[in-house]
Amino acid sequence: MSGFEALHAQGRIRYWGVSNFDTAELQTLRALPGGERCAANQVYHSPSARGAEFDLLPWQRAHSMPLMAYCPLDQGGLAGSPVLHSVARRHGATPSQVALAWLMAQAGVMVIPKAVREAHLRENLAAVDLRLSEADRAEIEGHFPAPRAKVALAMR
Ligand SMILES: NC(=O)c1ccc[n+]([C@@H]2O[C@H](COP(=O)([O-])OP(=O)(O)OC[C@H]3O[C@@H](n4cnc5c(N)ncnc54)[C@H](OP(=O)(O)O)[C@@H]3O)[C@@H](O)[C@H]2O)c1
Repeated sequence: MSGFEALHAQGRIRYWGVSNFDTAELQTLRALPGGERCAANQVYHSPSARGAEFDLLPWQRAHSMPLMAYCPLDQGGLAGSPVLHSVARRHGATPSQVALAWLMAQAGVMVIPKAVREAHLRENLAAVDLRLSEADRAEIEGHFPAPRAKVALAMR
């Protein structure tokens, strides 16, 4: 953290953040001098990996710290999800777009899908305009339920 702060003081970076921090670790960080300047926490978060929703995402919202969702497509695996496909069909969209739209509709969440193929890049960008309905969300969340107790964060 002191390294980040030194880079910030030198004007070499504008913001710094952390990755794979769970709630207790963020609380520890936040209590340190300058900890309130942590701009984001990057964690594995996707329709199938919802561990962050139990208490990490609520904590980050309460402290205005965005959650950056890495592996939002389960490294491409969600493109083959039957439930996302079923929702996607109703919108003329793709399962990956549904996964991204579902994530982006969550307050305080941003997504960082990685795509090398131009078609994937264009598809993912277009997900910004996809609006899911309550019924869509219920179908997705019925298939991929949120944890009812604290679970370890998924990691890649
Ligand atoms: N902080 C951490 O510990 C951590 C850990 C893991 C990953 N990350 C970061 O998170 C970002 C994303 O993670 P990730 O690459 O592991 O997983 P991801 O974004 O969930 O999945 C990427 C894979 O999905 C494919 N894909 C992308 N868009 C698609 C689409 N519309 N339809 C079908 N397939 C699609 C990509 O194919 P193509 O590339 O062939 O287009 C690639 O194989 C990366 O920037 C990575 O560096 C951070």
